[in-house]
Amino acid sequence: MTCKEAAPRSGLGLASSHMKVVLTHALPDDAALRVDRLGDVCSWTGAGPMPRGALVEAMADADGLLCTLVDTIDGDLLDLAPGLKVVSTFSVGLDHIDLAACAARSVAVGHTPDVLTETTADTAFALLLAAARRLREGIDYVRDGRWQEWDPDLLLGRDVHSTRLGIVGMGRIGTAIARRGVAFGMTVGYWSRTAKPEAEASLGAQRLALDELLETSDHVVVACALTDDTRHIIDARALDSMKSSATLVNIGRGPLVDTDALVRALGSGSIFAAGLDVTEPEPLPADHPLLSLSNCTVIPHLGSSTVETRSAMAHLAVDNLAAGLLGEPLPRPADVG
Ligand code: NAP
Ligand code: GLV
Repeated sequence: MTCKEAAPRSGLGLASSHMKVVLTHALPDDAALRVDRLGDVCSWTGAGPMPRGALVEAMADADGLLCTLVDTIDGDLLDLAPGLKVVSTFSVGLDHIDLAACAARSVAVGHTPDVLTETTADTAFALLLAAARRLREGIDYVRDGRWQEWDPDLLLGRDVHSTRLGIVGMGRIGTAIARRGVAFGMTVGYWSRTAKPEAEASLGAQRLALDELLETSDHVVVACALTDDTRHIIDARALDSMKSSATLVNIGRGPLVDTDALVRALGSGSIFAAGLDVTEPEPLPADHPLLSLSNCTVIPHLGSSTVETRSAMAHLAVDNLAAGLLGEPLPRPADVG
């Protein structure tokens, strides 16, 4: 871990150099320079995620914390920093933060919605195409030197265009995925807590009960937030109710899907294929059963991973941090209920 004193302040709206800020991960250079001007910065510079012990140590007297989705922010951690004003997460997802504990301690919470929506929807669609069209198997086939002829029966996939797309969680990202589906000539069904009249009007999306969505969709994309209500929303029963020709994409959080049940469904052919950006556990060990299944495409939580989007997320996370240190309204506050 590296701790350094505040860089000289050179502009308006900067927090006091007596503030202490903890960063659990390095930021892109220009965003990091902005953090340096906010106060004394303790930043994790070791390999891998910041160990809990190092975070606990760093939190003493902290005024602000800029974390990522791998850091668990709970009441015990908050109690180590009674002066903490703000938790700013470099993610839109908030399932790693105890929002009630933050609210109870008057700690503001900021996150990074919108700036990552389109990039994450692109990733979901890439996974959908990869899974339905068997790209992983095709790449392995060529790489292994098995490509000898054009074969009418080789690696037959399932159409994506002109099929039925089912979105589980029609939030910002779910809606952006639905827009891509419509551009592919798909009809869109969605399941969400709340009706989305705009998406219904502009995309012809139809709100369905979860059972009906799973039974009738050719491709199901899970894009909802992870909460106590949505954990394992795709369980063995849900997978059983899907078409045997269907694909499942998870772009939300790993624990939205029951992994053991998914391994069984893919292995038995009760669904056609899966594309996973997120898994449970994460990271997925190299010997995990999911990775031995040729009809499962797994990528390492790359949803928002482009140069442009990660930079935008970093700057928004710094904006949230700076506002919180100053006691101002955060540009993108989390809904703490
Ligand atoms: P959002 O606009 O807030 O959408 C959240 C969705 O989750 C909404 O559809 C919402 O339902 C649903 N939801 C929330 N709480 C729920 C509950 N208790 N029960 C049932 N449904 C619930 O967020 P977003 O920007 O689209 O992001 C969605 C999620 O995607 C994030 O929370 C994050 O976990 C994940 N994500 C992953 C990546 C990645 O790299 N793979 C990148 C960004 C985000 P309503 O529509 O009824 O409100
Ligand atoms: C990524 O998973 C995010 O929540 O931003």
